[in-house]
Amino acid sequence: MVNRENKQILPSLYQERAWVEISRTALTSNVRYLLGRLSPGTEMMTVVKADAYGHGAVTVARTVLAAGAHWLGVATVPEGIELRENGISAPILVLGAVNAADEMRAIAHWQLQPTLTNPHQAMGAAQELGNSEHPYPVHLKIDTGMSRLGVGWESAVSFVQQVQELPNLVIASIYSHFATADDPDPMFMYQQHERFITVVNQLQQNGDGQLCLHIANSAATLRDSTLHHHRVRIGLATYGLYPSSHIQDQFKENRLCPVMQIKARITQVKLVGTGTGVSYGHQFVTQRPTSLAIVGIGYADGVPRNLSNKMMVLLRGEWVRQVGAITMDMLMIDVTDLPEVQPGEVVTVLGTDGSNHISAHDWAMLLGTIPWEILCGFKHRLPRINMD
Ligand SMILES: Cc1ncc(COP(=O)(O)O)c(C=O)c1O
Repeated sequence: MVNRENKQILPSLYQERAWVEISRTALTSNVRYLLGRLSPGTEMMTVVKADAYGHGAVTVARTVLAAGAHWLGVATVPEGIELRENGISAPILVLGAVNAADEMRAIAHWQLQPTLTNPHQAMGAAQELGNSEHPYPVHLKIDTGMSRLGVGWESAVSFVQQVQELPNLVIASIYSHFATADDPDPMFMYQQHERFITVVNQLQQNGDGQLCLHIANSAATLRDSTLHHHRVRIGLATYGLYPSSHIQDQFKENRLCPVMQIKARITQVKLVGTGTGVSYGHQFVTQRPTSLAIVGIGYADGVPRNLSNKMMVLLRGEWVRQVGAITMDMLMIDVTDLPEVQPGEVVTVLGTDGSNHISAHDWAMLLGTIPWEILCGFKHRLPRINMD
């Protein structure tokens, strides 16, 4: 079944050139595995911002909720609205900043829950959300060392107290975010955690009993169950990737399954002689008579152009070299060593074919970036095929 902007389209039409396959089975299995690792009583929030890291927010949200996730996390109000418009009623936390009055009104209308980070914003929220009989749930974010969104941890106690004095609002959770949880050295992660706990202890001394707390992302969740608290906010691991190889090495067996695969068809095969320049700029010149296959996917689809002449793809389960500059809609591969390659054959650009696998980590290594960025790159042009 193809789902493009929520319209059902004939699969055959959209599997002519290139597509993204989303495995709901892998998604379900990852959520169940991660739920099984949580401390008793800890809830799971699946982070579905940026169209669920390129996987399709609506499909992912439905699948993870059916698998047992409790909450969804988005970055923006429109991302939350998209989920509500598609009938998703689970609690949704907007992780990003919400400042404008219009955004606050949309939050109330769509029953989303905002993150608050400063007194001015809290006053604005109190004007637009809730009333003293039905105070509106809000989540306070403390910056414990990420130096991104949040009230500085040193002034967090007084901020919490200010929000507590606003009768229209009720504090539904207090949270923070790790900056280095995927680093081999966990020292700063624990320092951030200590700061978080210092704030919480002060609040509890002041009489705040049951505060709902969360701080762990994928890396922290996998690393240490003492960081789970009442809720964890998991993105990358849900999509089947360990945040880093040293975290993966902690586990005897790999229990996370990548959810996304990128496939494309060969559209033409041609023989060229020795010394033939390939693609823009002739950055690759053949060293032998070469059978070139043209594959219908390019940088406009999400394959970074900087992978030109560096990446490999899988064809018939075998590794095949990509050659020449990756163009907007096509790339070339050298299929000289495979017999009788035909137009229409399917190339695995990212994913598994036979016993071989190409992961977003492999691309991230080649590009000097992180797998999060690779996954988010597949968002606009390719149709998504949701597989069971
Ligand atoms: C506030 C917040 N929490 C949780 C996450 C999930 O992180 P990860 O994908 O590493 O699990 C993110 C992602 O960037 C985030 O911004």
